[in-house]
Amino acid sequence: MLDRTTTARLLYAVSRGDAGHAERLLGAAPDLDEDLRSVLVGLVRDGSTPERTARALGDALNDVGAEKDVVNECYRAAFYLGDRWAELSENPLYAYFLANRAGGVLHKWPHYFPIYHRHLERFRGRPVRVLEIGVYRGGGLAMWRQYFGPEAVIVGADIDEAAARATAGRFVVELGDQSDPAFLRRLHERHGPFDVVIDDGGHTMEQQIVTAQTLFPLINDGGVLLVEDTHTSYWPAFGGGLGAEGSFTTWATRRVDDLNAQHHRDLDRTSVWANELGGMHFYDSVVVFDRERRFRSFDEVAGGSSYILADQVSERIAVESAAERERVREELAVVRERSERLEAQLRDAGTATPGAAADPVLEERLLAARAERSDLLSRLESTERAAAERAAAVDVLTDRLAATEEKLRLLERSVSWRVTSPLRAVRRRTGRR
Ligand SMILES: C[S@@+](CC[C@H](N)C(=O)[O-])C[C@H]1O[C@@H](n2cnc3c(N)ncnc32)[C@H](O)[C@@H]1O
Repeated sequence: MLDRTTTARLLYAVSRGDAGHAERLLGAAPDLDEDLRSVLVGLVRDGSTPERTARALGDALNDVGAEKDVVNECYRAAFYLGDRWAELSENPLYAYFLANRAGGVLHKWPHYFPIYHRHLERFRGRPVRVLEIGVYRGGGLAMWRQYFGPEAVIVGADIDEAAARATAGRFVVELGDQSDPAFLRRLHERHGPFDVVIDDGGHTMEQQIVTAQTLFPLINDGGVLLVEDTHTSYWPAFGGGLGAEGSFTTWATRRVDDLNAQHHRDLDRTSVWANELGGMHFYDSVVVFDRERRFRSFDEVAGGSSYILADQVSERIAVESAAERERVREELAVVRERSERLEAQLRDAGTATPGAAADPVLEERLLAARAERSDLLSRLESTERAAAERAAAVDVLTDRLAATEEKLRLLERSVSWRVTSPLRAVRRRTGRR
């Protein structure tokens, strides 16, 4: 197989367009399977752009299970030999990453930067609470501080004491295991509720699922949970595998049913996922969950010609009946309060003089207030009934209008209408019917 040094030299030759040198390097590479050698030689001879050649080399090596670092170098070279890096250069997180030569160790997949920026930009410069699970030596925390600004509260969590030592005096880092829901709830109680939770911890299936299940319901409305390195869902060493039942990706895709829960009777509409998950965004190795208090979705028709008649009528009826209902409700509230006050006075009078009959004057007033209340209640009921009847009448009108429109449309499309069109035009001009 290709070693890292030969790969680096090979990629350098490719970057300079020196196919001859690249071929000589491949020819001299020891321990290289002959079939693979000829595939790789074919690729460097291909005459493609350096970017495409580097990418094709990466694909070929990936296919035969070459070392991850070797494949990574090919794809990294392909990226920088192409033109996409220029877009990335405008990303503030990437700029920070590149400039961070002597700061804390920061190990990132550069394609995460646009994802972060897309979902987190709106929190910048605001007093938000950010939790990063998985601190390592604090490089990420320092980047988030710079990105979110001085008003943000940035908290880290890690299982390793070295993370807390490395960041002591600069950041709050709580020690604990992210697969322990009690630890996660403590984080929320001490430092939350969070607006942003970034899971860059141990990346096992259990850790990612428990963290999402425990922390998503506790995130602020409008906040996000961003789970990194979800490619571990495909790696058996982390409990993943293609289509694996217990993988984080499988678990996350099930949340799509929650997003659509109201559209199938067998789906649970009561869970936090069905009510507070605004959307999910799946990327290569990253999943973002938006926390959003949702209303039940509904459809509505706007436009068309109904505005000519039906909408105006129904709008007026709706406004009138709403005003009437409101008036009756207000009156009812006043009468209800009056009758409660009277009832209390009556009770007090009875307690003050045990055995004595309740005050007859008060009792009479109470009876009157009760009668008034029940009268208003029945008025409220009949107002509501009348509103429903008027709405039904509007429905009938609307249906009639729609049927007329449909007839007109059919008529306009019909052959005879088109055939007689010149005749009608002449009649219009001559004024004859
Ligand atoms: C990839 S590093 C984090 C890098 C950091 N986010 C950065 O950007 O610099 C992963 C970290 O997760 C921590 N970790 C691993 N398992 C964990 C667990 N069960 N609970 C909390 N942290 C864990 C490791 O100790 C390690 O520091």
